[in-house]
Amino acid sequence: MGRHRKVVIASDGIDRREKGYYSTPEFVAHFLSSKCLEIAPNARRVLDPCAGKEELLPLFIKKGISTDTFDIIDHGIHGATRFEQADFLKFYASTFAEMPLFASARHSDHDIIIANPPYNCHEVDYIRRNKLWLGSVFAEVGVHNMYSMFMYALIRMAKPGCVIGLIVSDSFLSHTAHAPLREYLIKNCSVELIALCPTDLFKSQKADVRTCIVVLRKEGTQGAVEVLNRPKSEADFRNAIARQSFERLSLSEILLQSKDDANEFIIGCPSDIRLLFSCDRIGTKFKCVTGISTGNDKRFLSKVPTSDHSVPFYKNPAGRRFFCPPDAFLPNNFLEIEKKERTFMVRNKSLLMQSGVSCSSMGVAFGACRLPENATFGVNANIICDDNDAWWLLGYLNSYLVGYLVRGVMLRTNMITSGYVSRIPLISISPSAKEEIGEIAKIAYKSKMSHGHEEAIEDINSIIYDEEEISLDSQLMLEVFSREMLKRV
Ligand SMILES: C[S@@+](CC[C@H](N)C(=O)[O-])C[C@H]1O[C@@H](n2cnc3c(N)ncnc32)[C@H](O)[C@@H]1O
Repeated sequence: MGRHRKVVIASDGIDRREKGYYSTPEFVAHFLSSKCLEIAPNARRVLDPCAGKEELLPLFIKKGISTDTFDIIDHGIHGATRFEQADFLKFYASTFAEMPLFASARHSDHDIIIANPPYNCHEVDYIRRNKLWLGSVFAEVGVHNMYSMFMYALIRMAKPGCVIGLIVSDSFLSHTAHAPLREYLIKNCSVELIALCPTDLFKSQKADVRTCIVVLRKEGTQGAVEVLNRPKSEADFRNAIARQSFERLSLSEILLQSKDDANEFIIGCPSDIRLLFSCDRIGTKFKCVTGISTGNDKRFLSKVPTSDHSVPFYKNPAGRRFFCPPDAFLPNNFLEIEKKERTFMVRNKSLLMQSGVSCSSMGVAFGACRLPENATFGVNANIICDDNDAWWLLGYLNSYLVGYLVRGVMLRTNMITSGYVSRIPLISISPSAKEEIGEIAKIAYKSKMSHGHEEAIEDINSIIYDEEEISLDSQLMLEVFSREMLKRV
């Protein structure tokens, strides 16, 4: 079935998806502009590179601070600003980039840069149309999203001391693709504030984006970071802002920086759980791999075993736990097919047919099922190990703790690759606890049921909490997180 392009027309006739126009709620704009001014009280010049209807600027204008703005659309609202109708990324490339189209300046003269860059717009089209120059101008961080290119450009052009206040998609906090952007950000700025916004912040404008507020200071001295975990609703967010209920944490308390990490920001993670990231990771002890992509499941897979399709194929346990039957059966001659069909790919051949644990790749909840011997697997993450480890790992991977580590800390978007699974902390756990967890997992598996294992999971949770001395507060948080997650399945 073809994908239909969604069009969201605002009351002023603008296609929001096309142009990425979403209006920042007044209380958020006020909070962000006040925070920037609190850090740079003597600011004289402010830039908003994608100003829309100047929603972020009233406080600056009221204080008589000079404001410069850009937007690809002229919304006709220009308070007292100097407005230029232009593509800001092109302006940046021609004025400030390392390899500028026509170089002229190194830094902008603004004391504050404030922005809610476009997202949800047709970045795929935009990137395709402008691929050549975007590729060279944004080589350092990659050409992934409009908002990430805006972020990089703004940090790069800001003068030392400039305060940068942004409302951006929260995917940059932990997504692998944005590792270079995070590295650039941390190298060049102090992080002053990170607040996760409630998911309903732009819902009334039909935008289903998970956003956060970030305040940075170019070449600033890193002190405590003000941090706010995601409030449940806009009302809670207003309250949190009004009461200034931010935690003050050191940067190292909110950043994953070991050799296995890529500077992921972990917001709202209790300290006893954060400490688990100093353990070894699953990938240091076990092979964590993907397998076969057929390129055309309909053509190559059979739902039932037949004489010429008899190779069990596991491709994504999704919401199933402990046990799942094969998702399909591969042709017996699949290795021959690979040689003839360009899009039929068999990775990690030597690990196929070995036993282990198969993890979900898509779906809201993270879960794992046993991968039996003599089976194959798809592009989901699979941990290859013998029975000694497989049973307890199966139990561990289905615990609330791992569900939270994967969905709440390491990854905020949907696809869980083998790279992510290999970075799950491998908690140090006593042999007797391993055995107990393994027994529970084995009984759940032998029931041949894929759902309804709440009691088993609770038993596993208790063993893990005791072993790792997880505080009652954290246990409660894990429970609430898991229940919320399950509601979304
Ligand atoms: C999320 S809206 C923010 C509007 C307003 N600043 C606010 O915070 O409410 C993003 C704005 O970026 C503009 N925009 C999209 N692509 C742009 C580009 N390449 N250069 C400058 N502005 C752009 C859109 O027209 C839209 O007004």
